[in-house]
Amino acid sequence: MISTIDRTSDQGGVKGGFTSDNIAGASLPILQALIEASGGTASPYGNDELTIQLEQRFKTLFECDLRLFLVPTGTAANVISLATLTPVWGSILCHPDAHINNDECSAPEFYTGGARMVKVDGRHGKLDSGLLRAAAQNKMGDVHSVQPCTVSVTQATETGHVYSLAELNEIGQICQETGMRLHMDGARFANALVALDCTPAQMTWQAGVDVLSFGATKNGVLAAEAIVLFDTGLATEMAFRRKRGGHLFSKMRVLSAQIDAYLNDDLWLHNARHANAMAQRLSRGLNAIEGIELIGETEANIIFCQMPEAVIEALQASGFQFYANRWGPEVARLVTSFSTSEREVDAFVDRAKTLISTGQGY
Ligand SMILES: Cc1ncc(COP(=O)(O)O)c(C=O)c1O
Repeated sequence: MISTIDRTSDQGGVKGGFTSDNIAGASLPILQALIEASGGTASPYGNDELTIQLEQRFKTLFECDLRLFLVPTGTAANVISLATLTPVWGSILCHPDAHINNDECSAPEFYTGGARMVKVDGRHGKLDSGLLRAAAQNKMGDVHSVQPCTVSVTQATETGHVYSLAELNEIGQICQETGMRLHMDGARFANALVALDCTPAQMTWQAGVDVLSFGATKNGVLAAEAIVLFDTGLATEMAFRRKRGGHLFSKMRVLSAQIDAYLNDDLWLHNARHANAMAQRLSRGLNAIEGIELIGETEANIIFCQMPEAVIEALQASGFQFYANRWGPEVARLVTSFSTSEREVDAFVDRAKTLISTGQGY
């Protein structure tokens, strides 16, 4: 029984935080699972029963054989995955907006030992398949150049959009034809999954994904992410890379307990559906205000919109937290989470409406 989805928002008042989905705390079942897992003793480094069972659970969830590697951050999940897939003379093809390109402080280059990030543009944070095909052929076989080796997609994207299954399959097809490997940054995997209403298998290995960074921290977990390795032949290498990278937890059961509780009673899907529903509510509310313009469709839990600078400043001065002017002048980014409440959303919309209708925003 899930009774705690809205817990943090009830405590947080109505001045909503829309800065990111990682400003929320954790769902109560995750914390309870941590307390339970802390009792007694268990074998270290992932040799405990819970971790072994969790891998089995992921095999059932994804309907295939796989190996599971738990880590504490999304960056660790991404860079250990990329390093396992990419030789030092290779390149990683990703969108210019990709977290691995912008927000990981060159950790992908560091962990791979120097692989190069090659940017492939496209709308809504998605790789354009035509541009990807061209980049995949670029200097292929030329000993003087880095070789296109790995493609990384973010699902849902950094702009809150979701690759359709057809789009993912096309990228998977390109990878297969050109001998590249496919990584998925699923920091918002659950948000994308419920938006597409498909199975985890369809959104990953059935579309050609070799390794998935299965995000959980943004969606109710305290601090744990899972690397899901579909190409099990790489498991030994990944195990050594995780240890060498300093991410093999001795008390692994603490991470496993969080991910296990995250899957229990479909908490992960409930949380993601809630976050997406709050984004839809916010999007509808803002769309009805003359003077505010939404940028693109709302597909998961991130909204971009254009609003007058004075409105942005007045909203922030009233205590609403969100990023603005990073993606262009007068552009605001609003992110909802498992703990965003309807009250927070409505308070934001009402305040924006008041500011504009009374001319305070100009
Ligand atoms: C798309 C994406 N990938 C990965 C991450 C993981 O980041 P962290 O290392 O902060 O957990 C984030 C977090 O902001 C993200 O937005």
